[in-house]
Amino acid sequence: MKILEDRIKQDGRVLGEDVLKVDNFLNHQVDPELMQALGEEFARLFADEKVDKVLTVESSGIAPAVFAALALHVPMVFARKKKSITLSAESYVADVYSFTKQETNHVMIDKRFLHEGERVLLIDDFLANGQAVTGLMEIAEAAQAEVIGVGIVVEKTFQKGRAMLDDQGVHVESLARIAAFENGQVVFAD
Ligand code: G4P
Ligand code: NA
Ligand code: NA
Repeated sequence: MKILEDRIKQDGRVLGEDVLKVDNFLNHQVDPELMQALGEEFARLFADEKVDKVLTVESSGIAPAVFAALALHVPMVFARKKKSITLSAESYVADVYSFTKQETNHVMIDKRFLHEGERVLLIDDFLANGQAVTGLMEIAEAAQAEVIGVGIVVEKTFQKGRAMLDDQGVHVESLARIAAFENGQVVFAD
């Protein structure tokens, strides 16, 4: 998506080997007009699917997810993160390991907000190793909801998340795909 790639070129900063910092439009300060355009693009890309609900994980997935939900005219539910939790009968829980932070978090969605047979679209800001998406897929499975696809704002094709989802036959749409970072510059795929 051209406006997103342009914005990444303009405002993104490459940190180290494999991290793109985009905190002035996505991860800290948020550009609502850009987020709305991203949400509309997700709605267009998944227009052939009936979607009942959009799911994401707090915190950075919320902005793009809420605009996707607005464009699809459905609710958005964000999984909450908890450091440790005592299992509750009232929520679905999954473990999410962060390679970046080398720690496991738990993510949970209250059973009141996800139901058997619902068709859900998963949205997240980054696809790196795919741990967050896998956690949401586990929650959807536990709820017997159907994941109709995954929408990602920025995919890093060189990390293992995309290949893992492709192997599972998941319909993934990423609005920007980064193939590599070279000399502190972003190289987009295709
Ligand atoms: P994964 O979900 O694909 O496995 O990602 P990973 O564990 O590697 O990433 C952990 C956190 O870092 C996630 O945010 C993820 O969105 C974010 N992240 C991964 N790669 C990048 C990157 O290149 N740039 C930026 N800015 N973030 C990246 P989180 O811990 O869930 O935090 P948040 O959603 O509260 O911001
Ligand atoms: Na995230
Ligand atoms: Na993040």
